[in-house]
Amino acid sequence: MMDRTTYDGVRKAALADPEEFWAARARVGLHWFSPFRTTLEWQAPFARWFADGTTNACYNCLDRHLTGWRKNKAALIWEGEEYQQRILTYQELHRRVVQFAAALRGLGYGQGDRAILYLPMIPEAAVAMLACARLGIIHSVVFAGFSAEALRTRIDDLGATLAITADAGRRRGRIVPLKKNLDDALSECPGVRHSIVYRHTGAEIEMRERRDLEWADLVAGAEAECPAVPVPSEHPLFVLYTSGTTGKPKGVVHSTAGYLVQVQATMEWVFDLRDDDTYWCTADIGWVTGHSYIIYGPLAMGATTVMYEGAPDWPRPDRFWEIIAKYRVNVFYTSPTAIRSFIRQGDEHPNRHDLSSLRLLGSVGEPINPSAWNWYNTVIGKSRCPIVDTWWQTETGSILLSPSPGAVETKPGSATLPLPGIDAAIFNLKGEPVPDGQQGYLVLRKPWPSMLRGLYGDPERYRENYWSRYPGVYFTGDAAHRDSDGYFWVLGRVDDVINVSGHRMSTMEVESVMVRHPAVAEAAAVGRPDELKGQALVVFATLKGGATPTPALGEELRQWVGQEIGGFARPEEVRMVDGLPKTRSGKIMRRLLRELVTNRHVAGDTTTLEDFSVLAKLSASDEDE
Ligand code: WTA
Repeated sequence: MMDRTTYDGVRKAALADPEEFWAARARVGLHWFSPFRTTLEWQAPFARWFADGTTNACYNCLDRHLTGWRKNKAALIWEGEEYQQRILTYQELHRRVVQFAAALRGLGYGQGDRAILYLPMIPEAAVAMLACARLGIIHSVVFAGFSAEALRTRIDDLGATLAITADAGRRRGRIVPLKKNLDDALSECPGVRHSIVYRHTGAEIEMRERRDLEWADLVAGAEAECPAVPVPSEHPLFVLYTSGTTGKPKGVVHSTAGYLVQVQATMEWVFDLRDDDTYWCTADIGWVTGHSYIIYGPLAMGATTVMYEGAPDWPRPDRFWEIIAKYRVNVFYTSPTAIRSFIRQGDEHPNRHDLSSLRLLGSVGEPINPSAWNWYNTVIGKSRCPIVDTWWQTETGSILLSPSPGAVETKPGSATLPLPGIDAAIFNLKGEPVPDGQQGYLVLRKPWPSMLRGLYGDPERYRENYWSRYPGVYFTGDAAHRDSDGYFWVLGRVDDVINVSGHRMSTMEVESVMVRHPAVAEAAAVGRPDELKGQALVVFATLKGGATPTPALGEELRQWVGQEIGGFARPEEVRMVDGLPKTRSGKIMRRLLRELVTNRHVAGDTTTLEDFSVLAKLSASDEDE
């Protein structure tokens, strides 16, 4: 922990010479098979960090901890939804990863191959990710809440040849048929040669001969040795699909060395992690927070990371607090949506448990409103745990804006200051920094090691999405302002991405699913502010001739989106309307719809037809968004 003066000194030096700053971090932070000599090659918007060095993410997360006392330290503490418990030491996790990697190698997979991981929150998810990393296989974890169709498009885009799954997952006492979903997806993905199945719940599944392999058989027959393969720094460690402003999800590509250097550095600056800490990040490994702050960050540091399989309120609303008390968790990292749902459930649930082990609390994924912040601070932190409100994105790889505890005073609702080496600013439309207090677009003016390296197979979209508004400057898609203390306040997205419970969703993706339904002619999806989820998804739809707007059809359409994308994307509401407000050029005026769902109460049954004649008049002006 640093004091403010020391910390400001570090930040100043880092900004004065970011390359030297990151090079120094990289030299001490990672094990290098061959050291790098060049730090950064920057041909905007393409960055290469430490490019002539070779390293391996799995080696850095496991092998290097085995030579000292950490070999018997708990690497992973797993709590199952049904109260099962598994604790894997570094040595034990390493042994399992080596076995599984040897099995993958035995099947002929290696550097540059792509694997889709569709797994529940179980230790095998970590084993599979690390085993891929060990061999240089690029992994892409698909959140277990995604549908077969969403899975198929990702397998397809990635050209994956290997899939790793479980028979099923558990969610609130129900069974999520992962293998079945994968089967459905694979019926249209002939490129996948093998799918490896871990038996987790014992659910009944079909195994297809030759293609489908049992995890247990594979590791039983695998060789005992499987050294980590040195890969170039820029070798992609993983691709993670996220929602963009068009219907097609984008495959965000992350590197090996730059990514690892910065997730590790931020573990230290933000979480002030100590060797005797028990650290728990409640994210799912299907999202970037799970990659960076359940797996790669904590393990690179040799920390103890907790992984919980189930839902926060299952079987009772105090499950999280029970886990904190059980494992004496010191650092706890969760989302504002979770916090808001705890507030709703009542203070008696946390108050029943001994939370005195907590030292530091974190928040991620959405703006945290001051009242949620205050509740988190007093009821969970007992007013003695600093709160780190961490701003970052799938694309940034690691936390970029956050207080560093001890050094930076917090303010409820602000992610405070850029971390060392990060050149954040707020621009107006013309690309000029706005005066403090004024709202604008959050941008990043210098490349950073854990930045995305591109969108898989689509350099043009990468350029267009992030670098076209301000040449050479990264556009985050978020609005923000900075106060007179230099603190950043991130307000939310300015593009067609909405954030429901911290899950990023593309309105275009939802719309394109809607219009595939036979009853739907046109659709427009917007976010409505929601006390619990941050935003809720509302979809307006016009129907094709012959279709009748009934509550049953409204419900069918909600379920349709859930089935096509995944349950978490199921709209809160589908409103069937007789027309959508449009500009003269025919563009749907989403802003108007957003206002409508935000400010005006539309009386009556929301599943019946609405009259847009007023809006239609408004739309006479040729307004573009
Ligand atoms: C939002 C999650 C305010 C933001 C790590 C960003 C936040 C998007 C915060 C990225 C925060 C994330 N305060 N907003 N502390 N953290 N966001 O890719 O809009 O799932 O652009 O990454 O979440 O979401 P993603």
